[in-house]
Amino acid sequence: MSLDEKATKPHDRLALALAEDMAAVNALIRDRMSSEHAPRIPEVTAHLIEAGGKRLRPMLTLAAARLLGYAGPFHVHLAATVEFIHTATLLHDDVVDESAQRRGRPTANLLWDNKSSVLVGDYLFARSFQLMTETDNMRVLGILSNAAAVIAEGEVLQLTAAQDLRTDEAIYLQVIRGKTAALFSAATEVGGVIAGGTEDQVRALFDYGDALGIAFQMVDDLLDYSGSAAETGKNVGDDFRERKLTLPVIKAVAASDATERAFWTRVIEKGHQEDGDLDHALALMARHGTLDATRAEAIAWAERARAALTALPAAPLREMLDDLADFVVARVR
Ligand code: IPE
Ligand code: IPE
Ligand code: MG
Ligand code: MG
Repeated sequence: MSLDEKATKPHDRLALALAEDMAAVNALIRDRMSSEHAPRIPEVTAHLIEAGGKRLRPMLTLAAARLLGYAGPFHVHLAATVEFIHTATLLHDDVVDESAQRRGRPTANLLWDNKSSVLVGDYLFARSFQLMTETDNMRVLGILSNAAAVIAEGEVLQLTAAQDLRTDEAIYLQVIRGKTAALFSAATEVGGVIAGGTEDQVRALFDYGDALGIAFQMVDDLLDYSGSAAETGKNVGDDFRERKLTLPVIKAVAASDATERAFWTRVIEKGHQEDGDLDHALALMARHGTLDATRAEAIAWAERARAALTALPAAPLREMLDDLADFVVARVR
């Protein structure tokens, strides 16, 4: 069997097509994640980065640039920048969410402590800014620094929307567009900008990343209830314990009768959770079909992502980006 045939998943096909670029990105990440002055930094970054991760966002940057014919060196810097920002947000996110498992390993906050995670996350953010300045391109600096601000806004909005049953689908969309889709859309947009794409092409790349990121987070929120920890590498039920109003819960609350509403008030607003509550929440979601409804919305956003691609040159990489929209909704990890 050839390598091409083996790589049946769209995500694998993209990884194969971009293998050389991705190797350069990984080398750059390894080179820049270290610090000679503070040994805790390479300990923590190596723990997280060697655990892998899907590398979706850097692949988006590389694919966008290559699709528009880019032949220079800076798409590699931008892809590494995007993965650094992602890794920094994961370190901070696991502190905020008090998560114990990430990429199939204990989280850094569990293995070391919150202080190390926050500070090493800050270090990675700073390294990402250094990396992007090496491109000497003001427009990409603007896009990526804006994304970093929008991600933080999304996380803070989520913080104030948690534990509040009034959180509706519009607020949820605002949260996930900020905390997750902003980095996907910046990843694709900077790929287009560095390649010198037309305004229409850059806009299409942004729209693709935005819709893909929204679909991605909807599925992530689905997997938090219905996935398997062995596959996701994260604990199931974290969102419930954190009393987050994700789409499956928002839909269940909207459909609830008085008894169900009292349950949601107790576990989400009051935070009085007992053994068996997560199972009961799952039963209510099943009763109202909210996991299926969430998947249907993710599929609709993936469709929007694919629609945006029509403004881009027809090429194998475009097909792979098209397939990636399917991967994002079908994924189990
Ligand atoms: C996790 O992203 C954070 C979310 C936006 C849900 P990924 O699922 O892409 O994380 P890794 O990099 O593959 O571990
Ligand atoms: C991911 O948020 C978004 C960021 C890291 C900014 P989540 O908290 O939903 O993601 P996981 O489930 O921990 O990966
Ligand atoms: Mg989290
Ligand atoms: Mg979080």
